[in-house]
Amino acid sequence: MDAIRVRGGKPLKGSVRISGAKNAALPILCATLLSDGASRLRNVPALRDIDTTAALLRFLGRGVRVDAPEVHVEAGCDVRPEAPYELVKQMRASVLVLGPLVARFGRAKVSLPGGCAIGARPIDQHLKGLEAMGCSIKLERGYVIAEGPAGGGRLRAAEICFDLPTVTGTENLMMAAALAKGRSTLVNCAREPEVEELGRVLNKMGATVDGAGTDVIHILGRDPGDLEPFDHAIIPDRIEAGTYMCAAAMMPGGDVLVEGAEVQDLEALVMKMRAAGVEITTEGQSIRVRRSGPIRAVNITTAPHPGFPTDMQAQFLVLMSMAQGESVITETIFENRFMHVPELLRMGANVALRGNTAVVEGVDRLYGASVMATDLRASASLIIAGLASDEETEVRRVYHLDRGYERIEEKLGGLGATIARVVGAEA
Ligand code: EPU
Repeated sequence: MDAIRVRGGKPLKGSVRISGAKNAALPILCATLLSDGASRLRNVPALRDIDTTAALLRFLGRGVRVDAPEVHVEAGCDVRPEAPYELVKQMRASVLVLGPLVARFGRAKVSLPGGCAIGARPIDQHLKGLEAMGCSIKLERGYVIAEGPAGGGRLRAAEICFDLPTVTGTENLMMAAALAKGRSTLVNCAREPEVEELGRVLNKMGATVDGAGTDVIHILGRDPGDLEPFDHAIIPDRIEAGTYMCAAAMMPGGDVLVEGAEVQDLEALVMKMRAAGVEITTEGQSIRVRRSGPIRAVNITTAPHPGFPTDMQAQFLVLMSMAQGESVITETIFENRFMHVPELLRMGANVALRGNTAVVEGVDRLYGASVMATDLRASASLIIAGLASDEETEVRRVYHLDRGYERIEEKLGGLGATIARVVGAEA
């Protein structure tokens, strides 16, 4: 299993280009199931989750060519509407094929994703929404078996109010509604930019989607067979951008231009970083991050967009671990998303966990250590911590990292970090 070795203690300088958004590309790849013909996605990041989705689409019967940063999807002859456990367990977002499959082919058998490192992550909201559209849902031997009305018929439009905003739940039901008969209304939707991006693609395909990116979305479905293939360039990855912004702020003297990032998608992070004393300016499609003085302690509470993103909590906590004073970090989205904390303690951070809250007392320095990555964002946060220590840190089990950060060691190396991948390191 690969590891990343990093030796920090010097400021990052230069510019880094942001890749396409993983969490936008995944639902859009699944949306190709709604039409026949050849679709092209551009600005797709070269990541393991993209390869897993490509493998899943191939298993379902599509022709997929990954030629990063492009992915070409073509209709195959037969579709097998079944997502097996072996693929779903590698990536929870595989559940995004459920809505398109049952809407397009009248039935779907998709493995339940099971628990994951950051929390239980149920999919009850996806299933309730499909039931409201007339699906019958059975859970059998770890699989969701969904069937359209009257034994595989066309879904009907519905009014669905989510009990809580869910990103992939909103996306799954938007895709199902795009082929349902009539006009659906989804209320209390997730407002993440990736949901808005899926709305743009569904509109390109010929559905009529209004309000994607707000909490109420209306979707007028088209007849199956009437949605068109599409050609689309994916938006930049706001979480990757935010991760480099935190990395840039770790050392005094840091000065990094984060290129191709959408600042309006990062407002909560930008405001909190400014409150912490980091200078952030926009230059066209780029964000410049400069740190000259000390970091001040700032509290954050994660929340659905436009609140502070849970996917930036670990990286921001690392920044706070070297702030002046005490900051309180509250995680409200996932119940187990502080697994980076015990690893950070080994590097000398001073953090006390109390339920869903981490109380971080800033320290003057972090030490190098061997640490274990537990999930995608936790892995990135440990690398950022390593950038602040002049000793060597080895982050193990970086396969999590390869799911979501394209060429991170090359990109950080380009900013002057001393960083290398150790292929086949001890797990
Ligand atoms: N939830 C339910 N029932 C449901 C669906 C969700 O109770 O049917 C709960 C979840 O357990 C969680 C909350 O609702 O407590 C929000 O979860 P959400 O469904 O929004 O998360 P997700 O769609 O599974 C996406 C991203 C995550 C990101 C979250 C929150 C993708 C592919 N994944 O997950 O990204 O953390 O939204 O913003 O879009 C990552 O990239 O590292 C990552 C984990």
